[in-house]
Amino acid sequence: MFLIKAFNYLFGRWLLSQHAHLNYSLKYSHRKRDVDINYLDYIRLATLELVANEIQKKNLPGNVAEVGVYKGKFAKYINQYFPSKKLYLFDTFEGFNEKDIQTEKKLGLNDANQDFSDTSADQVLKNMPFPKQCIIKKGFFPDTAAGIDDSFVFVSLDTDLYEPIYQGLVYFYPRMEKGGYIFVHDVNNDCYKGAAKAVEQFSEEQQISFIPIPDSCGSVVYIKN
Ligand SMILES: C[S@@+](CC[C@H](N)C(=O)[O-])C[C@H]1O[C@@H](n2cnc3c(N)ncnc32)[C@H](O)[C@@H]1O
Repeated sequence: MFLIKAFNYLFGRWLLSQHAHLNYSLKYSHRKRDVDINYLDYIRLATLELVANEIQKKNLPGNVAEVGVYKGKFAKYINQYFPSKKLYLFDTFEGFNEKDIQTEKKLGLNDANQDFSDTSADQVLKNMPFPKQCIIKKGFFPDTAAGIDDSFVFVSLDTDLYEPIYQGLVYFYPRMEKGGYIFVHDVNNDCYKGAAKAVEQFSEEQQISFIPIPDSCGSVVYIKN
């Protein structure tokens, strides 16, 4: 306790200027947690681990999904924390789609010029701890969701852009099990204004609230009632 207090007293302002903060995490919980220290966003991963623990404790039904997988860096932990659930992995695996790029530019949200094409479904599957549980949905979302007859208990929406995030909320929210969670990445990220727009619009249309979390890109969490 004293060491952290002293460190924050001496270096806290500098840390905050670097968008960092030193703190205890779950100091009084004696449950064994498995949070990979090599993953760069501790809050995002630790929140996922807590949510997975809640779902497990309550034995909630439903499968899990990520829309916007890229190389599978976050999906890997979804697979790890939900070993007995099917994990749907939605991505073009070729980067942003031209239709979404045009929408993004038309709405003045982002240039959408980041290149996410240096990946493949095979490469992603190789990094998964339980690849047999994974169902690859390669192509343009939401088209790739057509015909899926399933319910969900955890979904991560991380496509950076307005349209696929909004469509992700429209598609998944009604298919979530009661008590299930949707994480939306980048909502407090001024570089990707589309995420905030999608969340604002969906929340207003459905009259539902979310919890913002202070991870590095500012995610929000919806809980299905
Ligand atoms: C920021 S990356 C995902 C990062 C990943 N979740 C992680 O934590 O490492 C965004 C991904 O969304 C995908 N994407 C964006 N729009 C899409 C759409 N309409 N359909 C399918 N994939 C899409 C891109 O191909 C890209 O791989």
